[in-house]
Amino acid sequence: MGKSTNTKLGILGGGQLGKMLALAAGNWDLDLWILDKDKTFPASKFVDHFVEGDFKDYDDVYNFGKKVDVISIEIEHVNTDALIQLKKEGKIVHPDPEALVIIKDKGLQKQFYVDKKLPTSPFHYFESAAEVLEGLKQNEISFPFVQKSREAGYDGKGVAVLNSSDDLKRLLDCPCIVEPKVDIDKELAVIVARNEDGTIAAYPTVEMAFNHEANLVEFLFCPAAISEDLEREAQDLAKKVIAAYDVCGLLAVEFFLDKSGKLLINEVAPRPHNSGHHTIDSAITSQFQQHLRAVLNFPLGKTDSTSPSVMVNLLGHGDYTGTPILDGFDKCLALEGAKFHFYGKKITKPFRKMGHATVVDSDLEQAKQKAIFIRDNLNIIA
Ligand SMILES: Nc1ncnc2c1ncn2[C@@H]1O[C@H](COP(=O)(O)OP(=O)(O)OP(=O)(O)O)[C@@H](O)[C@H]1O
Ligand SMILES: [Mg+2]
Repeated sequence: MGKSTNTKLGILGGGQLGKMLALAAGNWDLDLWILDKDKTFPASKFVDHFVEGDFKDYDDVYNFGKKVDVISIEIEHVNTDALIQLKKEGKIVHPDPEALVIIKDKGLQKQFYVDKKLPTSPFHYFESAAEVLEGLKQNEISFPFVQKSREAGYDGKGVAVLNSSDDLKRLLDCPCIVEPKVDIDKELAVIVARNEDGTIAAYPTVEMAFNHEANLVEFLFCPAAISEDLEREAQDLAKKVIAAYDVCGLLAVEFFLDKSGKLLINEVAPRPHNSGHHTIDSAITSQFQQHLRAVLNFPLGKTDSTSPSVMVNLLGHGDYTGTPILDGFDKCLALEGAKFHFYGKKITKPFRKMGHATVVDSDLEQAKQKAIFIRDNLNIIA
């Protein structure tokens, strides 16, 4: 059989998202290329062309981009100057690098929502911890507030929640934004996809539950426990956001639903996202296949769920660092409807995302119970 397309697709990033993209690309026998630092990374075994290099380095990204026809990403902290140059030279780059410049800086991203009149919480810019302290003194900001480093945050690592002056020791010393702490009822996310024709498709809203010790998502529920009106509002807003950015591919839009029932955009990611992992097992089209469809300008796939589902992130045990060992897998595998995805990372670390499981069950409550069982019984140790 010939290839489904002769287009060479290059992805910057070969972590778990790159691996799951490679698995989806494999089903279509696509000519996929991936750039990342090291051949031991998760995607490497699943792609014909794994190129070793640094996606933050201009030359590495530029030279990689020259080898392929379409360039996309699985992480936003890449060298956008190289992508802008590649675009100038006629390469297709999705998401558009100009939008990526905005998205990868939390300050520019917040200003974008203000400019486009899209709902988000108010914010202030600061250059350093000293400036934040001065802002407090001048009453520009007040407790409780959330400080976020403008660049290179992920999995809550560049985020500090400060409730009172006792927390000031946790202040980050870097260019940042500060926003009031939102009185959150629920954290929601909608993944939307858009192709070059401008067609947009939204997945059903998911609800995220956090592990507060690790400050990252532990469980994700689909469908979210929200009204039909809110479901529509969240999907419509996510569609507006992707159109405003004018990007192709996936866009994951994270929302806060505050206690007064207002939806606020927290942040976006223009790529496959943790909040869409369940779609591999519980949607007609997985987010990974949808990303491929969108960046290659194929028709978008149907986004409906095939079953309620709960996704649980499988995090490295808090006490271990080293070669991962799975403890308790057998009894978790015995659960009906539990699907496991291990990323193949060579080293486990406390709370590192090592894999995820999705439980599909016609009864969401049952699925939750099984997901809790997995969290409590499957230990990734070393
Ligand atoms: N203004 C806020 N008010 C209350 N909580 C907040 C606020 N901003 C962030 N948080 C909390 O911190 C979490 C991480 O923030 P954010 O999503 O901006 O950071 P991140 O590092 O990009 O995270 P991730 O990569 O996990 O999505 C949020 O999901 C939320 O639980
Ligand atoms: Mg986030």
